[in-house]
Amino acid sequence: MRSVTTFNDGWVFEGKDAVTLPHTAVELPFSYFDERAYWRPFTYTRTFRANPGWDGKEVALVFDGAMADAVVSLNGVELAAHKDGYTQFEVRLTGKLKAGDNQLTVTIDGSENPEIPPFGGRIDYLTYAGIYRDVWLKVTAPVSIGSVKIETPDALAPKKSVRVRAGLANPQGLPLSGTLTATLRDAKGQSLGTVAAAVSGTDIVLALDGLGGIALWQLADPRLYTLELNLVTPHGSDATTTSFGFRTAEFTADGFRLNGKPLKLRGLNRHQSFPYSGYALGRAAQERDAEILKHELKLNIVRTSHYPQSPWFLDHCDRIGLLVFEEIPGWQHIGGESWKAEAVENVRRMIRRDWNHPAIVIWGVRINESQDDHDFYAETNRVAHELDSTRQTGGVRYITESEMLEDVYTMNDFILGNEELGGNRPRTALRPLSETTGLDRPVPYLITEYGGHMYPTKSFDQEQRQAEHVLRHLEVLDAAYGNPNISGAIGWCAFDYNTHKDFGSGDRICHHGVMDMFREPKLAAYAYASQCEPEDEVILKPVTVWARGERNIGGVLPLIVLTNCDEIELAYGSHPPKRIAPDRARFLHLPHAPAIVDRTHFSAEELGLWGMQWEDVRITGFVGGKPVKDIRFVSDPVATTLEVVADRDTVSAAGRDCVRVMVRALDQAGNKLPFLLEPVEIAVTGAARLIGPTLVPLRGGSTGFWLEATGVAGPIGVRVASPRFGATTLEVTAQ
Ligand code: GAL
Repeated sequence: MRSVTTFNDGWVFEGKDAVTLPHTAVELPFSYFDERAYWRPFTYTRTFRANPGWDGKEVALVFDGAMADAVVSLNGVELAAHKDGYTQFEVRLTGKLKAGDNQLTVTIDGSENPEIPPFGGRIDYLTYAGIYRDVWLKVTAPVSIGSVKIETPDALAPKKSVRVRAGLANPQGLPLSGTLTATLRDAKGQSLGTVAAAVSGTDIVLALDGLGGIALWQLADPRLYTLELNLVTPHGSDATTTSFGFRTAEFTADGFRLNGKPLKLRGLNRHQSFPYSGYALGRAAQERDAEILKHELKLNIVRTSHYPQSPWFLDHCDRIGLLVFEEIPGWQHIGGESWKAEAVENVRRMIRRDWNHPAIVIWGVRINESQDDHDFYAETNRVAHELDSTRQTGGVRYITESEMLEDVYTMNDFILGNEELGGNRPRTALRPLSETTGLDRPVPYLITEYGGHMYPTKSFDQEQRQAEHVLRHLEVLDAAYGNPNISGAIGWCAFDYNTHKDFGSGDRICHHGVMDMFREPKLAAYAYASQCEPEDEVILKPVTVWARGERNIGGVLPLIVLTNCDEIELAYGSHPPKRIAPDRARFLHLPHAPAIVDRTHFSAEELGLWGMQWEDVRITGFVGGKPVKDIRFVSDPVATTLEVVADRDTVSAAGRDCVRVMVRALDQAGNKLPFLLEPVEIAVTGAARLIGPTLVPLRGGSTGFWLEATGVAGPIGVRVASPRFGATTLEVTAQ
């Protein structure tokens, strides 16, 4: 039987530091740094003992991701090189190991090597150097299961089928015979069917038919099944389990369908980066991001801009029911022939790694926002279709009338706000489809970006700007909901991200997220969240800090209240409360239009003039005539509480588990104090280390940090203190 174990511990970095993977070569400051700090080679070494039990077995290391140009040597002999920084690679150690200690050396190079994607031009994101994902030690029989591809050809039929294509790994070229058995199991491990085939070559196809009682993989109930393969040959046995789901996904000229039912896609783009540690946060942070996208932002799709992302992230998307648009590495620039060949390889590696994920519904096979290149993109599409005939391809462009070599015209539409920039049309949320495609027929069409650089917004920006940020997200969503030919809209972007000097606000940050880099929501986050149904969660988010003089001229009107309630009530001071319905005149198509409180809701006297007494307000949301949520703002906020909350109260001592802690400065009503620009000091004791500095400012009323387990079990003490609030403590347990 195979054994796959982590190979993350016991590494030495640059000949001196003991490190555990995932690891970032250079921890960067939050902002205002020189990204060239990691543009150089780095060396990781690890000494390990060969296990006598490995004799006669195949031994390999599997790297989930190393940025970039990785070269792996064992005992001074180069065994493998892998240029791409985002895809998995395997290094065969069989026959190269010596008895006793072996010395493994991995060099990576963080320089932006123009010979490989995404490099060669300028890119609006950072590609932090390091062995930033897990490494695994895989020991198998000499003949083992190499690849598993599962298809569910008639997922919607009452009796379903599973087609399995297994590729056997036989690196020693041994004569093949034996049996491969496939067993389908449900989540409880119950067998639902089994089939066996004789082994004659390395490519084996198995089928299970007439399967009854199978549940579909759906967003609200993402049922997963596992396919267990058991291989027995004269050279030993092997087994794998692969999780998958039964579902259909189809982009049509009349919108997207999941399991045959129309579904408007509502999503955001995600970069896989985090403050300080860049790409190098492991499983917990990857899974948490998926949860934030699904459960806090209430999205149904994420685009992995602009590269294949962590297997942990994708596995979790499968588990929680979050659709994925996955794409190859690249950003605007197309290089020479060998560069393009590497991009085509990236298509292969991405699809081979990820073809069993039910969450993935489309492959992005263009370099994001590049120009047309017929031969290159005919080839990326050909390869994608050849490897996976079950998924459609897209290719993200911003150019219009681009050659449609893909199945879905995937368009970054940044038209909104054009009029402010000297554009010649009135405010428009999205361009007409025929204009962008240049085609006289409707085609499957998906918006893959909007917003972003057109309107960068920080959580501590003036309220008016934040309100406009909210409106822009709402307007595009509304337009996408209103056009049945549009499959959906994926905005730019979920989280703020560090970037090169050529982009962003000069601070090496693109403040393009609806959440900041700590994943703390800005107000625009609730433009998305409020589209969920109140049975899922009642959302009531007034787009205001509730102050008389924060907006130009003063006052808080028009006041957008992002909500999925039927109606809201606003009670200002002792004035009679007002009932306000969602603004369906302005937002015709959104599942839940915001309520917008404006001057028409008040008498001249109530409108109040500059200099009158400012009052408290209570805003109540009603569903089915009943009050379901209440928000109160005080007219005299004072700094009252420093809230310190961890995402979980336990972490795993093993591995390099991590947990996010958020710190928020709150007033007496529990509202954040966005303009409290004061420092807090973080102290961590016990079984974890703090990632990032100990002294940090509150930004927009909050800050955050990640704790990383050090490998021992025990309590982790967290103390966050400020002159204003004194100290707040929190305990997390490493177990
Ligand atoms: C797009 C690009 C994204 C990001 C965005 C900012 O052009 O595809 O990666 O740079 O602009 O709005």
